[in-house]
Amino acid sequence: MSGVSFNKVGVVGLGTMGAGIAEVLARGELAVVGIEINPEALERGRGHLERSTGRAVKRGKLTEEGQRAILDRIALTTDFGDLGDCDLVIEAVPERLDLKRKVFAELDRVCRADAVLATNTSSLSVTDIAVATGRPTKIVGVHFFNPAPVMRLVEVIGTVLTEPDAVTRVADLVAGLGKTPVVIGDRAGFVANRLLFGYLNQAAGMLASGHATHDDIDTAMKVGGGLPMGPFTLMDLIGLDTCLEVLEAIYAESRDRRHAPSPLLRELVTAGLLGRKSGRGFYDHGAPAAEPTAGGNGTVQPVVCVVGDGPRPARLADVPDVAIGDADLVIVLGPGAPHDAPLPPAAAEAKPGAVLAVTDSSGRVIGQAAGLDRAADVVGLHFPEADGELVEIVSTVVTGEGVADKAAALVSALGLTPVHCRDRAGGIVDALRFPYLNDAAAMLGAGYADADSIDAAMKLGCGYPTGPIADLDRLGLDRAVEVLDALYDEAREPALAPAPLLEEYRTAGRTLR
Ligand code: 3HC
Repeated sequence: MSGVSFNKVGVVGLGTMGAGIAEVLARGELAVVGIEINPEALERGRGHLERSTGRAVKRGKLTEEGQRAILDRIALTTDFGDLGDCDLVIEAVPERLDLKRKVFAELDRVCRADAVLATNTSSLSVTDIAVATGRPTKIVGVHFFNPAPVMRLVEVIGTVLTEPDAVTRVADLVAGLGKTPVVIGDRAGFVANRLLFGYLNQAAGMLASGHATHDDIDTAMKVGGGLPMGPFTLMDLIGLDTCLEVLEAIYAESRDRRHAPSPLLRELVTAGLLGRKSGRGFYDHGAPAAEPTAGGNGTVQPVVCVVGDGPRPARLADVPDVAIGDADLVIVLGPGAPHDAPLPPAAAEAKPGAVLAVTDSSGRVIGQAAGLDRAADVVGLHFPEADGELVEIVSTVVTGEGVADKAAALVSALGLTPVHCRDRAGGIVDALRFPYLNDAAAMLGAGYADADSIDAAMKLGCGYPTGPIADLDRLGLDRAVEVLDALYDEAREPALAPAPLLEEYRTAGRTLR
């Protein structure tokens, strides 16, 4: 590696993140000193390093010699004194300010006066850590994403005390390692966690309220939201204890109750169910993969009729229509608004036992079902993406038993992926993604980061196919404001009101980028 002013880098703490960071540095041909608190923890750290590089060997991405060379570059020790000749030390111990301050006091004592000291904190204040050292000008944040060897984003955080040269050198190092640095100031959660964790916590609340199952929420966000992982799979990957700590730290700064950790998350952590690392979290990682929850048995021959004047989702374009009286599933294309208009009279001609499914963009189905003789046969069909394969089957309080399952089986036979949810604003995908997009617009409006940094953070740190600012333009600011207004009306949650920047661009008829 060339052009980098660090040659020997220490990593304190070899848990999942620390070991991943040590691997990235060693892959970049730097000499690494990995340090743990005691021999047992050091052995666990060695295990992480061997497993992660071994996995690359198994996948044919690395030779055995390559693996040996990487591991040989990492000197493992329990003696802080071995960090004495490092140019840079990255701390990756658990997210407790008292612990981090203790580690930094020790680093301050053993490291050269010109060494840069970095914290991989997820959300604690880098400034709080810096002021407890004798060298606050040389303290930076360097925030990697899990799994560190894979995710390309590294947030590099300078405080008001950090000398600019230290930030530049660390950003150059990150770029030299093949990652993308996003340089930002010191705010709880930085860019990516600040946007990600509100969404993860909301998903936990959605599960706890019985709105939908964790399988269905995960499927919805993967298939309908295009994310690499659903929120529960991701929380299990991150570790539920880490999720709790990050949320507490963000809440301490934001005082936004959407960041107050969901009681369900806290309960799982108290029970020791921490996710992948403990074998069980939201999912049981030892259990065989669960069967899909809805439809897909391949035996249902859907006899479908599509009526109504609303927009026809692309996936329904080729469905051959039959007479209403013959259909098992009557899809009524709703105009999207008004949401309390009753079903068109033609739907009353459906045969007994047929499912009446209304497409509707707001997730409010009860207004169309209430008062009908056949209210028990009515479900909503909500397509978060007009041309996507995900469809949310919305049940109301009067939907009859088995009706939503029947609807799911029928739409799955049409090649769609169904998930179930209750009749609440935004269904699953829109209810989860628009508050996150609104937070990104608010962050942009507050001047914390520019559109490129915000989009890069979510794409490269969390594997999102598009960044939130670009996503708002793609989905349309009118739609964003419409869904946010509906969510706000339902929850009366101030943070769900459309960000002023969104309203302003929408009124101006301009896109954000
Ligand atoms: N360690 C090392 N490498 C791993 C890995 C791990 N735990 N998991 C996957 N990989 C590698 C694989 O070896 C493979 O590498 P290759 O392409 O060179 O062969 C590559 O990642 C893709 O793996 P898979 O094909 O097995 O799996 P997927 O295609 O499903 O991708 C994923 C896995 C990259 C993890 C993807 O699902 C993803 O991007 N998920 C989102 C992860 C995310 O959001 N991370 C950020 C969390 S927030 C955070 O860390 C901040 C902190 O402060 C809390």
